[in-house]
Amino acid sequence: MVSCTNVRTILQAAKAAGIKIPTLCDDDRLEPYGACRMCMVEIVKHGRRRLVASCLFPVEEGLSAQTDSEKVTRIRKMIIELLWPVGSNTPRSTVSPNPVSIRG
Ligand code: FES
Repeated sequence: MVSCTNVRTILQAAKAAGIKIPTLCDDDRLEPYGACRMCMVEIVKHGRRRLVASCLFPVEEGLSAQTDSEKVTRIRKMIIELLWPVGSNTPRSTVSPNPVSIRG
């Protein structure tokens, strides 16, 4: 259980509690826009389970979120697999001014 004040989203609450959720498009200098979906978590709301982008989904009293379930891991793997072909063919200069090396 995480108790939080001054946070709006599940991702912010997790960061405040020291819980790591992977992200690609989250940046404190930008408004969250949910583009990458790498931050997906599984929530239970009104007895219903579903996957949501933690950088966009607002925290609320009693909300339960799983940040590391089998379903969450599977969806993050699928997202990486879908994004990988796009990134691997993109010239470095258009990806980032500071190229990052990713080793597999
Ligand atoms: S960090 Fe990219 S959608 Fe949440």
